[in-house]
Parts: sequence; C-alpha cells; structure tokens
Amino acid sequence: MTITDIENAGETAVTDYILAQESKDQLRFLTCGSVDDGKSTLIGRLLYDTKLIFEDQLAALERDSKKHGTVGEEIDLALLVDGLEAEREQGITIDVAYRFFATEKRKFIVADTPGHEQYTRNMATGASTADLAVLLVDARNGLMVQTRRHAFIASLLGIRHVVLAINKIDLVGYSQEKFEEIRKEFETFANGFDFESLQAIPMSARYGDNVTIKSDKMGWYSGPTLLEHLETIEVGEHVLGAPFRFPVQWVNRPNLDFRGYSGTVASGSVAVGDELVVAGPAKISKVKTIIGADGETSAARAGEAVTITLEDEIDISRGDLLSSTAHRPEVADQFAAHVIWMSDEPLLPGRPYLLKIGTRTVTATVSEIKHKINVNTFEHVAGKTLELNEIAFCNFALSSAVPFDPYEANHTTGSFILIDRMSNATVGAGMIWFALRRASNIHWQALDVDKSARSEKLGQKPAVLWFTGLSGSGKSTIASIVEKKLHIDGKHTYTLDGDNVRHGLNKDLGFTDADRVENIRRVGEVAKLFADAGLITLVSFISPFQSERRLARDLLGEGEFIEVFVDTPIEECRKRDPKGLYAKADRGEIKNFTGIDSPYEAPENPEIHIRNVGREPEEVAEEIVTYLRENGYLSSFGENGEGI
Ligand code: ADX
Repeated sequence: MTITDIENAGETAVTDYILAQESKDQLRFLTCGSVDDGKSTLIGRLLYDTKLIFEDQLAALERDSKKHGTVGEEIDLALLVDGLEAEREQGITIDVAYRFFATEKRKFIVADTPGHEQYTRNMATGASTADLAVLLVDARNGLMVQTRRHAFIASLLGIRHVVLAINKIDLVGYSQEKFEEIRKEFETFANGFDFESLQAIPMSARYGDNVTIKSDKMGWYSGPTLLEHLETIEVGEHVLGAPFRFPVQWVNRPNLDFRGYSGTVASGSVAVGDELVVAGPAKISKVKTIIGADGETSAARAGEAVTITLEDEIDISRGDLLSSTAHRPEVADQFAAHVIWMSDEPLLPGRPYLLKIGTRTVTATVSEIKHKINVNTFEHVAGKTLELNEIAFCNFALSSAVPFDPYEANHTTGSFILIDRMSNATVGAGMIWFALRRASNIHWQALDVDKSARSEKLGQKPAVLWFTGLSGSGKSTIASIVEKKLHIDGKHTYTLDGDNVRHGLNKDLGFTDADRVENIRRVGEVAKLFADAGLITLVSFISPFQSERRLARDLLGEGEFIEVFVDTPIEECRKRDPKGLYAKADRGEIKNFTGIDSPYEAPENPEIHIRNVGREPEEVAEEIVTYLRENGYLSSFGENGEGI
C-alpha cells in the first residue's frame, strides 16, 4: 500500500462516518388511515408538542379553532394541517407535502398524503422513500378495508416498520380490551407481511395521550409513546448502502470544452476516479470531476444533486443510468411488476401507456395481468382489467430496453409510474420484480427480401387505410368499393374487416373495452405485416378508442397509416341498421354496443374525414382513391398523377 492509498482509505472511512451520522438521526415516515381516523390531528399534535408551530401560527390557530373548530374550547390541531393543505393548493408554501420536525434525538420527515379519494395513489407516491408507516385506526371502528389496504401497500412498497396507532381511545373509555382486540386482529392479518417491527400504541391524538407524553389514563399500557418509538426505532439505511445509481436528468453542455451529466444520486455514493458504466450500451468510463451545490467536490451520495464529468467522451443522454461497474443494473424490455392502478379508467392490457422510470420515458403495454390481489384476503384473482385502487402482478412489454433494479434491491431504480398518453395523467405506479428473459432470446431475423423490394416489385407504396366509425356508418361498404377500384387498376390489396376477422383470428374476443383493445392491437399487428408485404390494406373496424388507433399508427412507418373517419351520426346509423343490431341493443339484447352503452372516441385529426350523410358510397370511394393518387401511393415512384 502506498501512502496515497492509506490517505484515501482514511478519507473514505471519515466520509463514511460522516455520511452514517448524517443519515442515522433522520427518520422518514408516513401516516395513513381511513377518513376521519385523525391523521391531521395526529400530525398537528406532533408538530405542536415538538413546538414546531410558530407563535403567530398558533395565535391564528386559536382564533380559527374558535371559528371553525370541532373540539370546543381547545385548539383544533387538524385545522393546522388542513390549513397548510389549503396553502399548498394555492401554491403559497413549497413542499409542505413533506413536513419536517426534529427532537434532540432525531430529525423527522413526514410524508403527509392528503386527499381521501386519491389516497392509495398519494400513499404510493409518498411511501417509496419512507422507513416507517403509522397506520391510524379509530378505536371505535377497528380495522377497516382501508387499513388493510394501506398495510398491504406499505408492505408492497417495502416499508419494514409499522406503528398501529389505535386512536380515539378516549372514546372507548381507554379500554385495554378494545386495544388488545384490534392489535390481535391486525397481527393475525399482517402475519404474512415481513414487517420487521410492529408496534401497537393506544392513543388520543386530540388530547395528546401517548403521542409525545405518556398518558396517565392507561396504566395497563407499558409500551413507548409514539414519539419515543419514532425516536428510537432502528431502521437500516437503504439508499446509502445500495450500489451507485445516477439517472441522467440532463446533459450540461455550456460550451465545447465541457460536457457534464446532471441529476440526483438515486442510491449509493460516488467519488472522483470511480469507474462507471452506462447501462444499456455498457460503455465504461471514470469519474473526472463532481460538481455539487458548493462547487467541485470529491464525492457525492444519495439524495445529492450534482453534475458529473467523465474521463472519456461517450454518448450519454437524458434518461441514461450511470452505475457502478461492480454492481450493474439489469437491462430488459420485458419485466414482471406489481402495479397499483390509480385511474377511474381501467387499465387495459394491450393499451399503450407511457412508462416513466427514473428520467427515462418509454411506451409500454401490459402484456398480461398474471393475477389481481384481493387486499382483504390476499388471494390471487384472475382479471382482464384493473380498476381504480386495484393491485395486480403483471407482465410488461416496453418499446425499448431500460436499465432497472428489482424494487426489493432499489426503490428508486425499481419503481415506475404509468402515464396516460391522451390525458397525460399519472394512472399507475409499479414496482419491478424481475426481468422476463424470453424477449432477449428472440432476435429479428434479417430477411434479404424486404419491404422496399416487395413494394417495388408490386409497383405501389404500402399503406394502411384505417376506416373507423360506428357500426352501420358505412365503413365496409366504402372500403369494399375502394378495394375494387384499386384491384381493377392492378394494385395489390387486402381487406381486414371486423366482422370477418372476428370469425377467425379474433374469435375469442367479445366487446368489452379490454377485448376491443386486444382486437385492435392484433389487427394493428396484422396490418403491419401486410404493409411489410407491400400491400395496400383496408382495415374496417369500429376501433372506438384513440389510444389503439394511435398504437396502430405507431406500428407503421411514416405516412403508411391513413386514418379514414367515416363520420355518420348515430341517428343515421340507427335508421340504416343493416344488421338489426341497434334495434337489438335498444331492446337490451346486446350489451356494450358502441354509441349506446360503450363509447366511441372520434379521431381528432384523421387524414380523411368523410361526413357521410346524403353521400353516395361510390363518390366517397372515389374521393379516397383520389387522396391515394394525389399523395403518391399508387405509383412506385411516388409521383403525382401516375397510377390510376
Ligand atoms: S371493435 O369495436 O372491436 O373495433 P369490430 O369492428 O371488431 O368492433 O366489430 C364490430 C362489428 O361487430 C359490428 O359492425 C357489429 O356487426 C358487430 N357487433 C356485435 N356486437 C357488437 C357490439 N356490442 N358493439 C359493436 N358492434 C357489435
């Protein structure tokens, strides 16, 4: 060992010690429970008793309590927390979703997850970094569905320590029996979760019993107060001990001489000279400099926002993950994960969503719901869709491979959110279990005769004319005339018609939203193959959802997807009713009929929009052929006017 080595070792030890000290005295926890269990009052009580509330806030609180409070002469602590929420809604206070307070022993960060409706969702968002969960139960009501759900989510999210806060104990006469009954029921219920610690505490947040001050009304309870417990519980550090992970937020390139990668260290730590790998391309380099908030530094650790420069010029962009070479993340485009669904619109397998993992966003579909989980019994139940607040274990297929760690090993790089592509709303949260290897063993077979060779031979540009519209709108009639015209002109065509394909390839599918998504996904894939074969394909399906029409569009090459909206008002379709289906649906003999009890989402920007009232199909078909001709689809050279 050289002197420098020893010095370095010493420095590392000191750094480690400081890091450990800094992290040891901090506890992150979250509170959850069902509505009215007293969550706001409890947080208010903790803040109040630890003297965190400033004098002027206190004065206002006393005033407000007199005005709006629900506890008579005393201060209504819930008003404090709810007041902060109102401030937050108005955007006045920054980051009060996390509340900070401290005692001599520890610093605390409470993830306060307001909102009753969206509770599960908020909890999932706030919980992934929490060390401990305080589950509130109203002593009068005992365990509720919500309590079980939150305990389960806490366990799913990897929270290892739980406090069962049996609140409002004053309202059951400080009854030990009641306390024991709830505690036992919970312990039996939580038996299957691998919580490391489970502490039940009888308390009254309103009067302060056993929150920070030991109650003199429950001589039978010898355990700690909530604050004592929070101050002393030992929780292992998770983010610091984990391997180094750094999702690149942006590439900082102010001039040609500087190229730095900025972001927040997700886990572990890094020092100048460390060897790093860009997951995916597996390119390796060494850390040249680290720039933190106070300028250049020799090391950085989880939670710190820094800019890193490397010794070598390698191609790194936003969304890449820099990792330690000794412990590399997995890279895959298919994995199995738990999902908590947070949208009123159900999750539909096959529907494309945006999946955001770290700083990277890709398109993803659920390829299979393996099972849903009944949060009361933990039974696995089969399911084709996932409704609001439901939890399932699913297989995911991504548009490209992403680096990740199993959630168990790393909460940050192992979790993701799902975003609806149309509304941009967050609709789900996921925790990855393992990569599915099947995809990595299948490679694209390179074929010598390709799409362009085939289409050249056929003398046409491949295209998919995608007819969408209500049942009876005239899609098939028009498509059929268009095909005849193309055929006469020597073009190579094929028609995929809903009614026909549903007799074969898709005969296992019905008309639920989930089945329609799968119906269109498959037809989109078939249309893609036909385009690859060089054909002009006419697809005639109701295809009621924008998402799946978009999926089909994305499967095809630029300009290959031509959306034809056959826009016939439902009254007109009903009048025509060629198959007598509207009459049946009106009599209640057909369920989920499009336009009646199943939605139709009209295209926003179709390439061709046919307002199909009082028009002859022949004339409409001619309009479509003209579109093809004028846009160069009918000649191999793509020149206007050739072909038909
Ligand atoms: S899609 O919505 O999944 O795209 P698709 O085009 O395959 O529907 O099939 C629609 C055809 O199935 C209709 O033209 C009609 O003949 C028949 N059909 C039977 N039941 C229904 C229903 N509940 N809703 C719509 N169409 C139905």
